[in-house]
Amino acid sequence: MKVIPVTNGGVSSGTFDVYKIIPIKSRNMKALVYYGPGKKSWEEQPKPILKETTDAVVRILKTTICGTDLHIMKGDMPEVASGRILGHEGVGVIEEVGSTVSNFKVGDHVIISCVTSCGKCEYCKKGMYSHCEKGGWILGYMIDGTQAEYVRIPYADNSLYPIPAGSDEEALVMLSDILPTGFECGVLNGQVKPGDTIAIVGAGPVGMAALLTSQFYTPAEIIVIDQDDNRLAVAKTFGATHTINSATENATLKVMELTNGKGVDTAIEAVGIPATFELCETIIAAGGHIANIGVHGKSVALHLEDLWDRNITITTRLVDTVTTPMLFKTVQSKKIEPKKLITHRFKLDQMIAAYDTFEHASREKALKVLLEN
Ligand SMILES: NC(=O)c1ccc[n+]([C@@H]2O[C@H](COP(=O)([O-])OP(=O)(O)OC[C@H]3O[C@@H](n4cnc5c(N)ncnc54)[C@H](O)[C@@H]3O)[C@@H](O)[C@H]2O)c1
Ligand SMILES: [Zn+2]
Ligand SMILES: [Zn+2]
Repeated sequence: MKVIPVTNGGVSSGTFDVYKIIPIKSRNMKALVYYGPGKKSWEEQPKPILKETTDAVVRILKTTICGTDLHIMKGDMPEVASGRILGHEGVGVIEEVGSTVSNFKVGDHVIISCVTSCGKCEYCKKGMYSHCEKGGWILGYMIDGTQAEYVRIPYADNSLYPIPAGSDEEALVMLSDILPTGFECGVLNGQVKPGDTIAIVGAGPVGMAALLTSQFYTPAEIIVIDQDDNRLAVAKTFGATHTINSATENATLKVMELTNGKGVDTAIEAVGIPATFELCETIIAAGGHIANIGVHGKSVALHLEDLWDRNITITTRLVDTVTTPMLFKTVQSKKIEPKKLITHRFKLDQMIAAYDTFEHASREKALKVLLEN
């Protein structure tokens, strides 16, 4: 706070001055800080400032929690430094822009991409933003992220997307990560085609995004496999033709039964543990594609003794977010409605409660949790 003398409308204040109290912008903010496996805190942190002329500082309006944040909290990603602010998804409003940012100005509403891209390096030129030499997936991982009141976004011109006035910003949070991830790593890499039979293993938000976007290509059968009956029921409402609870049923046998013993043309892995990748290996048809999406923290057995003669492909991918502009149009036109994935809403300072809900998704019947400022 700063106290300044003010005039008293021309009237003498006698022997004392009249003061008014005006707030000055706080240099601090609240953020979710990771302190090693299982340890996190919602606490005061310095507000980010511009470091490079290509940066923007964004005031977060809406953010969310990703399965990848849970992997970090579990200790699957020991490279994440203690003290890191997590989060790589969100929409916000530009608070400050560096002098060489030309696409955005203060006050613009933007989607924050989970992947930062300079737009100039060899990988960016190939459209492989995920491996940008100066960026890639760094937000909430190698640099401070979006589960905070403010975030610094490097290479703002390429790493932010403009939001037209009047858009439904809740739906657009799903474009930061899960929609391009499900689509690029699952559907495109899995080469889903009309008439195909596909399986999606994992009915979390990312698996659901693969479910929604796979239907651009009209596969004939979509089998969704998970251990959470609530998520499986939701998958049915989003277009799954069959669901299998792999905790209570033998998923391999069930898929073989459903496919006349052939297996599926595409198996999309959207969990990130050995059991689910190995399940994909057992249900893939000859000539099929296993498209891994999950972030894996442990090594997985590759059964080449069974697969060497099956003419299959296995793909891995860190989301590039190259399809974000296309997906944006499908969301704006309501061809897909990812907003339906939001099951819980919190205020930003209820971050710890939101983590608890997302960590206990089955108990809480949770899919995507939305945090709003
Ligand atoms: N490749 C990428 O660029 C990228 C980007 C974003 C997220 N991801 C990864 O995608 C994965 C999914 O993310 P999410 O946000 O949907 O996570 P999530 O944790 O919400 O969902 C995972 C789902 O897997 C199910 N599951 C757990 N164990 C299972 C088992 N043994 N058999 C069947 N189902 C099981 C859970 O019930 C849950 O529904 C995570 O590994 C995440 O890190 C990858
Ligand atoms: Zn993510
Ligand atoms: Zn680059």
